[in-house]
Amino acid sequence: MILVTGGAGFIGANFVLDWLAVNDEPVVNVDKLTYAGNLQNLHSLQGDARHHFVQGDIGDGELIARLLEEHQPRAIVNFAAESHVDRSIHGPEDFIQTNVVGTFRLLEAARHYWAALPDAGKQAFRFLHVSTDEVYGTLKPNDPAFTEDHNYEPNSPYSASKAASDHLVRAWHHTYGMPVLTTNCSNNYGPYHFPEKLIPLMIVNALAGKPLPVYGDGMQVRDWLYVKDHCSAIRRVLDAGTLGETYNVGGWNEKPNIEIVNLVCALLDELRPRPDGQAYREQITYVQDRPGHDRRYAIDARKLERELGWKPAETFETGIRKTVQWYLDNPQWVSAVQTGSYRDWISQQYAQEQKATA
Ligand code: NAD
Ligand code: TYD
Repeated sequence: MILVTGGAGFIGANFVLDWLAVNDEPVVNVDKLTYAGNLQNLHSLQGDARHHFVQGDIGDGELIARLLEEHQPRAIVNFAAESHVDRSIHGPEDFIQTNVVGTFRLLEAARHYWAALPDAGKQAFRFLHVSTDEVYGTLKPNDPAFTEDHNYEPNSPYSASKAASDHLVRAWHHTYGMPVLTTNCSNNYGPYHFPEKLIPLMIVNALAGKPLPVYGDGMQVRDWLYVKDHCSAIRRVLDAGTLGETYNVGGWNEKPNIEIVNLVCALLDELRPRPDGQAYREQITYVQDRPGHDRRYAIDARKLERELGWKPAETFETGIRKTVQWYLDNPQWVSAVQTGSYRDWISQQYAQEQKATA
């Protein structure tokens, strides 16, 4: 089995769902259930013996050591993190605690577990750390896309904390020989994306008749990857990645924010026209820019394609259509997140899980 951290969040939940859809290897899923963790994302796994959920903190070394001992996973995939740049600007402390201290504690628990494994288990073991392209800093309009050799130049508390975690993972390989892999991915989008991030926020605000807040001039560029393609890249790196290496993951799909927002609006105009017949783009409002806002990210994912044969399956056009449709098809998920009732559901659900595993 494998141990996944942060598997109730956006990417982690998609990863767990896809993992169990493509094979039967069980997953122990450790998630602290912060505001970003939502067990409703994993609702379809209710009663599935292959999924074992544990509410817990990656910074709790004793808990992690106990879970490793009990379940003997062959790999750890670390998604757990504080992930929202704007929140990191308002309150960086949690980012340091989870992304830096938490990753350190997780690495230490993993190292002790790994060191005590018999030779075959030791050789097979993997620690895969999921990271971001934001560690590389910002690009000028004509700069080449980030390769794995790009300097680390993080600019936000979020990206600095992720950069620190990447460095720890690297050091645990060089110093202790830990079998680690790191992936640095561009912006994801898709089902179960918490509506504080650009794409889901625009969808839910548009449908609610609220303003669509575009920061600054809206010309900041991001590379966008459909979340299920990120999950397939992680599976591929876990299977065949070279130990100690990092792999950039991207969608070959750079777009300025305003173009993304206009595309979302156009899809909504087609799929769920406004009752008053107006276009959703009428709701776009330019607001004050984010402090220190990185202007452009772009990912060169050729290493992953060349060495491991991975390519994204979705284009932006197919992925964004599926995503908008998912939000239209799942109004209960959206409203539970908006009203906060997903937190009540989590406590009920968690009580049931506790009973089931007691
Ligand atoms: P998310 O915020 O949606 O989910 C994070 C999950 O981690 C939540 O379920 C939360 O409860 C859990 N968590 C937080 N602190 C924890 C702790 N101390 N112990 C255990 N669990 C904890 O984030 P996401 O968008 O799914 O991102 C997952 C990972 O992928 C992060 O490491 C992030 O840096 C990275 N990443 C995200 C993107 C993106 O576009 N979203 C892109 C590249 C990389
Ligand atoms: P976000 O989804 O927060 O991801 P990140 O900052 O990690 O790239 O933001 C994506 C881009 O969209 C980023 O340039 C900031 C911008 N943005 C807005 O213009 N308005 C918004 O309301 C949000 C949340 C983001």
